[in-house]
Amino acid sequence: MDDFDYLGEGEVYLDSACQSLRPRCVIQAMERYYTEHNSCGERVKYKWGRETDALVDGCREKVLKYLKLKSRKYTVSFTLNTTYGINLILSQIDASKFKKIVTSEIEHNSPFLGTMGFSKRTGLPREVIPRNDDGTIDVGAYDFTDAIVVVNCASNFDGRKLSNLPELCKAVHKAGGILIIDAAQAMAHSVDVLRGVGVDAICFSAHKLYAPSLGVIVWRDELESYLQPLWLGGGMVDDVERDSFALSAENKEHKYTRFESGLQAWGEIIGLGAALDWLEKVPKSAWKDFENNYHRLYEFLKASPKVHLVNHEVNPTMTFYVEGVGSHLLGEALSRKGIMARTGYFCVHYYLDHVLGLPPLIRFSLGLHTKASDIDKVMNALGKIIN
Ligand SMILES: Cc1ncc(COP(=O)(O)O)c(C=O)c1O
Repeated sequence: MDDFDYLGEGEVYLDSACQSLRPRCVIQAMERYYTEHNSCGERVKYKWGRETDALVDGCREKVLKYLKLKSRKYTVSFTLNTTYGINLILSQIDASKFKKIVTSEIEHNSPFLGTMGFSKRTGLPREVIPRNDDGTIDVGAYDFTDAIVVVNCASNFDGRKLSNLPELCKAVHKAGGILIIDAAQAMAHSVDVLRGVGVDAICFSAHKLYAPSLGVIVWRDELESYLQPLWLGGGMVDDVERDSFALSAENKEHKYTRFESGLQAWGEIIGLGAALDWLEKVPKSAWKDFENNYHRLYEFLKASPKVHLVNHEVNPTMTFYVEGVGSHLLGEALSRKGIMARTGYFCVHYYLDHVLGLPPLIRFSLGLHTKASDIDKVMNALGKIIN
Protein backbone atom coordinates (compact mmCIF):
# COMPACT_ATOMS: atom_id res chain seq x y z
CA MET A 1 0.00 0.00 0.00
CA ASP A 2 1.21 3.54 -0.78
CA ASP A 3 0.43 4.58 2.79
CA PHE A 4 3.72 3.00 3.89
CA ASP A 5 5.83 4.59 1.14
CA TYR A 6 8.58 5.44 3.64
CA LEU A 7 9.57 1.76 3.94
CA GLY A 8 13.03 1.29 2.45
CA GLU A 9 13.61 -0.99 -0.50
CA GLY A 10 14.25 -4.51 0.72
CA GLU A 11 13.08 -3.87 4.29
CA VAL A 12 10.64 -6.53 5.43
CA TYR A 13 8.95 -5.67 8.71
CA LEU A 14 7.31 -8.69 10.35
CA ASP A 15 6.72 -7.35 13.87
CA SER A 16 3.22 -5.89 13.62
CA ALA A 17 2.06 -7.79 16.73
CA CYS A 18 4.43 -5.57 18.69
CA GLN A 19 3.83 -2.31 16.85
CA SER A 20 2.13 -1.88 13.51
CA LEU A 21 3.70 0.48 11.04
CA ARG A 22 1.84 3.76 10.91
CA PRO A 23 0.33 4.86 7.62
CA ARG A 24 1.57 8.19 6.35
CA CYS A 25 -1.77 9.93 7.12
CA VAL A 26 -1.46 9.05 10.83
CA ILE A 27 1.99 10.60 11.00
CA GLN A 28 0.66 13.66 9.17
CA ALA A 29 -2.28 14.03 11.58
CA MET A 30 0.16 14.13 14.48
CA GLU A 31 2.39 16.58 12.66
CA ARG A 32 -0.62 18.83 12.06
CA TYR A 33 -1.37 18.81 15.78
CA TYR A 34 2.22 19.78 16.62
CA THR A 35 2.55 22.42 13.94
CA GLU A 36 -0.97 23.86 13.68
CA HIS A 37 -2.82 23.60 17.02
CA ASN A 38 -0.40 22.34 19.69
CA SER A 39 -2.52 22.76 22.79
CA CYS A 40 -3.85 21.09 25.88
CA GLY A 41 -7.25 19.42 25.59
CA GLU A 42 -10.26 20.17 27.79
CA ARG A 43 -8.94 23.10 29.79
CA VAL A 44 -8.11 25.53 26.99
CA LYS A 45 -10.61 28.04 25.67
CA TYR A 46 -8.54 29.53 22.83
CA LYS A 47 -8.87 28.47 19.21
CA TRP A 48 -6.15 25.81 19.11
CA GLY A 49 -7.59 24.15 22.21
CA ARG A 50 -11.02 23.94 20.63
CA GLU A 51 -9.53 22.21 17.56
CA THR A 52 -7.76 19.71 19.81
CA ASP A 53 -10.94 19.07 21.82
CA ALA A 54 -12.97 18.38 18.70
CA LEU A 55 -10.45 15.80 17.43
CA VAL A 56 -10.03 14.15 20.84
CA ASP A 57 -13.81 13.88 21.36
CA GLY A 58 -14.09 12.58 17.79
CA CYS A 59 -11.51 9.90 18.56
CA ARG A 60 -13.52 8.65 21.57
CA GLU A 61 -16.58 8.35 19.31
CA LYS A 62 -14.61 6.55 16.60
CA VAL A 63 -13.27 3.98 19.08
CA LEU A 64 -16.84 3.14 20.18
CA LYS A 65 -18.03 3.00 16.59
CA TYR A 66 -15.17 0.69 15.65
CA LEU A 67 -16.13 -1.63 18.52
CA LYS A 68 -19.87 -1.28 17.83
CA LEU A 69 -20.52 -0.12 21.40
CA LYS A 70 -22.92 2.61 22.51
CA SER A 71 -21.80 5.84 24.19
CA ARG A 72 -24.88 5.51 26.42
CA LYS A 73 -23.22 2.52 28.06
CA TYR A 74 -19.49 2.83 27.45
CA THR A 75 -16.76 5.38 28.07
CA VAL A 76 -13.37 5.68 26.38
CA SER A 77 -10.38 6.72 28.49
CA PHE A 78 -6.81 7.11 27.30
CA THR A 79 -3.70 5.83 29.01
CA LEU A 80 -0.20 4.58 28.11
CA ASN A 81 -0.71 1.06 26.78
CA THR A 82 -2.57 -2.22 27.43
CA THR A 83 -0.39 -3.13 30.42
CA TYR A 84 -1.01 0.22 32.04
CA GLY A 85 -4.75 0.03 31.34
CA ILE A 86 -5.17 -3.41 32.92
CA ASN A 87 -3.11 -2.44 35.97
CA LEU A 88 -4.88 0.90 36.29
CA ILE A 89 -8.27 -0.81 36.47
CA LEU A 90 -7.05 -3.52 38.84
CA SER A 91 -5.40 -0.98 41.13
CA GLN A 92 -8.75 0.78 41.58
CA ILE A 93 -11.02 -2.24 42.04
CA ASP A 94 -12.52 -2.69 45.48
CA ALA A 95 -11.41 -6.28 46.19
CA SER A 96 -13.93 -6.68 49.01
CA LYS A 97 -16.64 -7.00 46.35
CA PHE A 98 -15.07 -10.11 44.79
CA LYS A 99 -14.03 -13.66 45.73
CA LYS A 100 -11.21 -14.36 43.26
CA ILE A 101 -9.37 -13.25 40.16
CA VAL A 102 -9.19 -15.51 37.11
CA THR A 103 -6.90 -15.42 34.10
CA SER A 104 -5.91 -17.95 31.42
CA GLU A 105 -2.71 -19.85 30.72
CA ILE A 106 -1.97 -18.31 27.31
CA GLU A 107 -1.88 -14.70 28.49
CA HIS A 108 0.77 -12.12 27.75
CA ASN A 109 2.66 -11.10 30.90
CA SER A 110 0.56 -7.98 30.97
CA PRO A 111 -2.64 -9.64 32.35
CA PHE A 112 -0.70 -12.63 33.68
CA LEU A 113 1.47 -10.55 36.03
CA GLY A 114 -1.20 -7.89 36.56
CA THR A 115 -3.55 -10.49 38.03
CA MET A 116 -0.68 -11.99 40.04
CA GLY A 117 0.10 -8.58 41.53
CA PHE A 118 -3.58 -8.01 42.31
CA SER A 119 -3.80 -11.35 44.11
CA LYS A 120 -0.65 -10.72 46.15
CA ARG A 121 -1.81 -7.22 47.09
CA THR A 122 -5.39 -8.05 48.01
CA GLY A 123 -5.06 -11.65 49.22
CA LEU A 124 -7.82 -12.78 46.82
CA PRO A 125 -7.02 -16.18 45.28
CA ARG A 126 -5.92 -16.29 41.65
CA GLU A 127 -6.94 -19.04 39.24
CA VAL A 128 -5.22 -19.78 35.91
CA ILE A 129 -7.59 -21.63 33.59
CA PRO A 130 -6.67 -23.48 30.39
CA ARG A 131 -7.54 -22.39 26.85
CA ASN A 132 -8.39 -24.72 24.03
CA ASP A 133 -6.17 -24.94 20.96
CA ASP A 134 -8.70 -22.81 19.10
CA GLY A 135 -8.55 -20.10 21.81
CA THR A 136 -11.96 -20.79 23.37
CA ILE A 137 -12.65 -21.39 27.06
CA ASP A 138 -14.84 -24.28 28.25
CA VAL A 139 -17.11 -21.85 30.03
CA GLY A 140 -19.23 -24.46 31.81
CA ALA A 141 -16.18 -26.02 33.46
CA TYR A 142 -15.36 -23.05 35.74
CA ASP A 143 -16.96 -21.25 38.64
CA PHE A 144 -17.06 -17.51 37.99
CA THR A 145 -18.99 -16.58 41.14
CA ASP A 146 -17.98 -13.03 42.10
CA ALA A 147 -14.84 -13.37 39.98
CA ILE A 148 -12.77 -10.74 38.20
CA VAL A 149 -11.90 -12.42 34.89
CA VAL A 150 -9.01 -10.97 32.86
CA VAL A 151 -8.27 -12.72 29.56
CA ASN A 152 -7.21 -11.89 26.03
CA CYS A 153 -9.54 -12.32 23.08
CA ALA A 154 -6.66 -12.93 20.65
CA SER A 155 -3.23 -14.29 21.51
CA ASN A 156 0.05 -12.63 20.60
CA PHE A 157 1.91 -15.78 19.56
CA ASP A 158 -0.54 -17.51 17.22
CA GLY A 159 -3.53 -15.17 17.13
CA ARG A 160 -5.93 -17.82 18.49
CA LYS A 161 -9.24 -16.16 19.34
CA LEU A 162 -11.71 -16.32 22.17
CA SER A 163 -14.52 -16.93 19.71
CA ASN A 164 -16.98 -17.87 22.47
CA LEU A 165 -16.51 -14.51 24.20
CA PRO A 166 -20.29 -13.77 24.26
CA GLU A 167 -20.87 -17.05 26.11
CA LEU A 168 -18.08 -16.29 28.60
CA CYS A 169 -19.42 -12.79 29.15
CA LYS A 170 -22.89 -14.08 29.87
CA ALA A 171 -21.62 -16.72 32.31
CA VAL A 172 -19.37 -14.28 34.20
CA HIS A 173 -22.15 -11.70 34.57
CA LYS A 174 -24.68 -14.33 35.62
CA ALA A 175 -22.29 -15.42 38.37
CA GLY A 176 -21.86 -11.84 39.63
CA GLY A 177 -18.38 -11.37 38.18
CA ILE A 178 -16.79 -8.85 35.83
CA LEU A 179 -14.91 -9.43 32.60
CA ILE A 180 -11.88 -7.38 31.55
CA ILE A 181 -10.61 -8.09 28.05
CA ASP A 182 -7.04 -7.71 26.83
CA ALA A 183 -7.75 -6.76 23.22
CA ALA A 184 -4.18 -5.79 22.34
CA GLN A 185 -3.98 -8.33 19.50
CA ALA A 186 -7.62 -8.30 18.47
CA MET A 187 -8.04 -4.68 17.46
CA ALA A 188 -6.17 -4.64 14.15
CA HIS A 189 -7.15 -7.89 12.47
CA SER A 190 -9.61 -9.79 14.70
CA VAL A 191 -11.94 -7.13 16.02
CA ASP A 192 -15.02 -9.13 15.02
CA VAL A 193 -14.49 -11.39 18.00
CA LEU A 194 -15.15 -8.45 20.29
CA ARG A 195 -17.58 -6.18 18.48
CA GLY A 196 -20.78 -5.45 20.35
CA VAL A 197 -20.04 -7.87 23.23
CA GLY A 198 -21.03 -6.33 26.58
CA VAL A 199 -17.79 -6.91 28.51
CA ASP A 200 -16.94 -4.65 31.46
CA ALA A 201 -13.68 -3.29 30.11
CA ILE A 202 -11.52 -3.57 27.02
CA CYS A 203 -7.86 -2.56 27.16
CA PHE A 204 -5.82 -2.15 24.02
CA SER A 205 -2.70 -0.52 22.62
CA ALA A 206 -3.21 1.89 19.74
CA HIS A 207 0.35 1.11 18.59
CA LYS A 208 -0.86 -2.33 17.45
CA LEU A 209 -3.70 -0.69 15.50
CA TYR A 210 -1.74 1.37 12.96
CA ALA A 211 -1.78 4.28 15.43
CA PRO A 212 0.80 6.00 17.65
CA SER A 213 1.94 4.71 21.07
CA LEU A 214 -1.11 5.02 23.28
CA GLY A 215 -3.30 2.91 25.54
CA VAL A 216 -7.09 2.85 25.55
CA ILE A 217 -9.58 1.63 28.16
CA VAL A 218 -13.15 1.20 26.96
CA TRP A 219 -15.33 0.56 29.99
CA ARG A 220 -18.93 -0.12 30.83
CA ASP A 221 -20.59 2.39 33.11
CA GLU A 222 -21.46 -0.34 35.65
CA LEU A 223 -17.75 -0.86 36.29
CA GLU A 224 -17.75 2.41 38.20
CA SER A 225 -19.57 0.87 41.15
CA TYR A 226 -16.51 -1.37 41.79
CA LEU A 227 -13.89 1.37 41.56
CA GLN A 228 -12.18 3.42 44.23
CA PRO A 229 -10.46 6.50 42.84
CA LEU A 230 -6.78 6.16 43.73
CA TRP A 231 -4.83 8.02 41.07
CA LEU A 232 -5.76 11.65 41.46
CA GLY A 233 -4.51 14.94 40.11
CA GLY A 234 -4.99 17.50 37.36
CA GLY A 235 -7.75 17.15 34.81
CA MET A 236 -9.95 15.00 37.09
CA VAL A 237 -11.73 17.36 39.45
CA ASP A 238 -14.44 20.01 39.19
CA ASP A 239 -13.72 21.52 42.60
CA VAL A 240 -11.16 21.14 45.37
CA GLU A 241 -11.38 22.26 48.99
CA ARG A 242 -8.67 21.91 51.62
CA ASP A 243 -9.39 18.24 52.38
CA SER A 244 -11.91 17.19 49.76
CA PHE A 245 -12.64 17.26 46.07
CA ALA A 246 -15.44 16.74 43.56
CA LEU A 247 -14.49 14.27 40.84
CA SER A 248 -15.29 15.34 37.27
CA ALA A 249 -16.07 11.67 36.59
CA GLU A 250 -19.30 12.10 38.59
CA ASN A 251 -20.53 14.10 35.61
CA LYS A 252 -21.66 11.80 32.77
CA GLU A 253 -19.97 14.04 30.17
CA HIS A 254 -16.58 13.65 31.86
CA LYS A 255 -16.67 10.06 33.04
CA TYR A 256 -13.51 9.32 31.05
CA THR A 257 -11.47 11.44 33.46
CA ARG A 258 -11.66 8.63 36.03
CA PHE A 259 -8.67 6.99 34.34
CA GLU A 260 -7.05 10.12 32.94
CA SER A 261 -4.96 11.77 35.62
CA GLY A 262 -2.87 14.65 34.33
CA LEU A 263 -2.23 15.88 30.84
CA GLN A 264 -2.86 13.40 28.05
CA ALA A 265 -0.98 12.49 24.86
CA TRP A 266 -3.14 14.72 22.66
CA GLY A 267 -1.10 14.25 19.47
CA GLU A 268 -1.21 10.46 19.84
CA ILE A 269 -4.96 10.49 20.52
CA ILE A 270 -5.47 12.52 17.36
CA GLY A 271 -3.23 10.02 15.52
CA LEU A 272 -5.48 7.19 16.71
CA GLY A 273 -8.52 9.02 15.31
CA ALA A 274 -6.71 9.29 11.96
CA ALA A 275 -5.80 5.58 12.05
CA LEU A 276 -9.45 4.62 12.61
CA ASP A 277 -10.50 6.84 9.70
CA TRP A 278 -7.83 5.21 7.57
CA LEU A 279 -8.89 1.68 8.56
CA GLU A 280 -12.43 2.45 7.52
CA LYS A 281 -11.18 3.32 4.04
CA VAL A 282 -8.82 0.38 3.50
CA PRO A 283 -10.06 -1.14 0.23
CA LYS A 284 -11.29 -4.73 0.07
CA SER A 285 -8.47 -5.50 -2.35
CA ALA A 286 -5.88 -4.56 0.31
CA TRP A 287 -7.52 -6.89 2.84
CA LYS A 288 -7.54 -9.61 0.21
CA ASP A 289 -3.81 -9.08 -0.50
CA PHE A 290 -3.16 -9.19 3.23
CA GLU A 291 -5.03 -12.47 3.53
CA ASN A 292 -3.20 -13.97 0.55
CA ASN A 293 0.13 -12.92 2.02
CA TYR A 294 -0.31 -14.51 5.41
CA HIS A 295 -1.93 -17.62 3.97
CA ARG A 296 0.97 -18.09 1.59
CA LEU A 297 3.59 -17.70 4.31
CA TYR A 298 1.68 -19.96 6.69
CA GLU A 299 1.32 -22.69 4.07
CA PHE A 300 5.04 -22.46 3.32
CA LEU A 301 5.93 -22.88 7.01
CA LYS A 302 3.45 -25.71 7.40
CA ALA A 303 4.95 -27.58 4.46
CA SER A 304 8.58 -27.12 5.59
CA PRO A 305 9.71 -30.36 7.22
CA LYS A 306 12.00 -28.84 9.88
CA VAL A 307 9.57 -26.13 10.93
CA HIS A 308 7.54 -26.71 14.09
CA LEU A 309 4.59 -24.34 14.12
CA VAL A 310 2.90 -23.40 17.38
CA ASN A 311 -0.19 -22.26 15.44
CA HIS A 312 -3.07 -24.65 15.05
CA GLU A 313 -4.66 -22.38 12.46
CA VAL A 314 -3.65 -19.87 9.85
CA ASN A 315 -3.29 -16.35 11.22
CA PRO A 316 -1.39 -13.15 10.34
CA THR A 317 0.66 -13.90 13.49
CA MET A 318 2.60 -17.16 13.34
CA THR A 319 5.15 -18.61 15.70
CA PHE A 320 7.52 -21.52 15.19
CA TYR A 321 10.97 -22.93 15.68
CA VAL A 322 13.23 -24.68 13.22
CA GLU A 323 14.77 -27.98 14.20
CA GLY A 324 18.53 -27.64 14.63
CA VAL A 325 18.59 -23.83 14.29
CA GLY A 326 18.36 -21.63 17.40
CA SER A 327 15.63 -19.03 16.95
CA HIS A 328 17.79 -16.10 18.05
CA LEU A 329 20.47 -17.08 15.51
CA LEU A 330 17.78 -17.50 12.87
CA GLY A 331 16.41 -14.04 13.70
CA GLU A 332 19.88 -12.56 13.27
CA ALA A 333 20.41 -14.36 9.97
CA LEU A 334 17.09 -13.05 8.66
CA SER A 335 17.92 -9.57 9.90
CA ARG A 336 21.09 -9.59 7.80
CA LYS A 337 18.78 -10.01 4.81
CA GLY A 338 16.58 -7.09 5.87
CA ILE A 339 13.86 -9.28 7.44
CA MET A 340 12.74 -8.10 10.87
CA ALA A 341 11.13 -10.77 13.04
CA ARG A 342 10.91 -11.32 16.80
CA THR A 343 12.51 -14.15 18.71
CA GLY A 344 12.08 -15.51 22.23
CA TYR A 345 8.86 -16.05 24.18
CA PHE A 346 7.09 -12.75 23.35
CA CYS A 347 6.17 -12.12 27.03
CA VAL A 348 4.27 -15.42 27.21
CA HIS A 349 6.96 -17.16 29.27
CA TYR A 350 4.59 -19.21 31.40
CA TYR A 351 2.68 -20.93 28.59
CA LEU A 352 5.31 -21.25 25.88
CA ASP A 353 8.26 -22.13 28.10
CA HIS A 354 6.76 -23.78 31.18
CA VAL A 355 3.50 -25.34 29.93
CA LEU A 356 4.50 -26.33 26.40
CA GLY A 357 8.24 -26.61 27.17
CA LEU A 358 9.20 -25.07 23.83
CA PRO A 359 12.63 -23.67 22.97
CA PRO A 360 12.84 -19.93 22.17
CA LEU A 361 10.68 -19.26 19.13
CA ILE A 362 10.52 -16.97 16.14
CA ARG A 363 7.41 -14.95 15.30
CA PHE A 364 6.28 -13.47 12.01
CA SER A 365 3.44 -10.99 12.36
CA LEU A 366 2.18 -9.36 9.19
CA GLY A 367 0.32 -6.15 8.58
CA LEU A 368 -1.39 -4.24 5.82
CA HIS A 369 2.01 -2.88 4.79
CA THR A 370 3.23 -6.40 3.88
CA LYS A 371 3.80 -6.94 0.15
CA ALA A 372 3.68 -10.16 -1.86
CA SER A 373 7.35 -9.58 -2.66
CA ASP A 374 8.09 -9.56 1.09
CA ILE A 375 6.67 -13.06 1.34
CA ASP A 376 8.79 -14.20 -1.63
CA LYS A 377 11.85 -12.79 0.07
CA VAL A 378 11.11 -14.46 3.42
CA MET A 379 10.39 -17.84 1.81
CA ASN A 380 13.55 -17.61 -0.22
CA ALA A 381 15.74 -16.62 2.74
CA LEU A 382 14.22 -19.09 5.16
CA GLY A 383 14.31 -21.88 2.62
CA LYS A 384 18.07 -21.34 2.10
CA ILE A 385 18.80 -21.19 5.85
CA ILE A 386 16.77 -24.27 6.65
CA ASN A 387 18.28 -26.32 3.89
C1 LIG B 1 -2.03 -9.92 23.93
C2 LIG B 1 -1.20 -8.80 24.48
N1 LIG B 1 -1.53 -8.26 25.66
C3 LIG B 1 -0.85 -7.24 26.19
C4 LIG B 1 0.24 -6.71 25.56
C5 LIG B 1 0.96 -5.57 26.17
O1 LIG B 1 0.90 -4.46 25.35
P1 LIG B 1 1.67 -3.14 25.75
O2 LIG B 1 3.12 -3.52 25.84
O3 LIG B 1 1.39 -2.21 24.66
O4 LIG B 1 1.15 -2.72 27.07
C6 LIG B 1 0.65 -7.24 24.34
C7 LIG B 1 1.85 -6.74 23.65
O5 LIG B 1 2.41 -7.33 22.77
C8 LIG B 1 -0.10 -8.30 23.77
O6 LIG B 1 0.22 -8.82 22.59
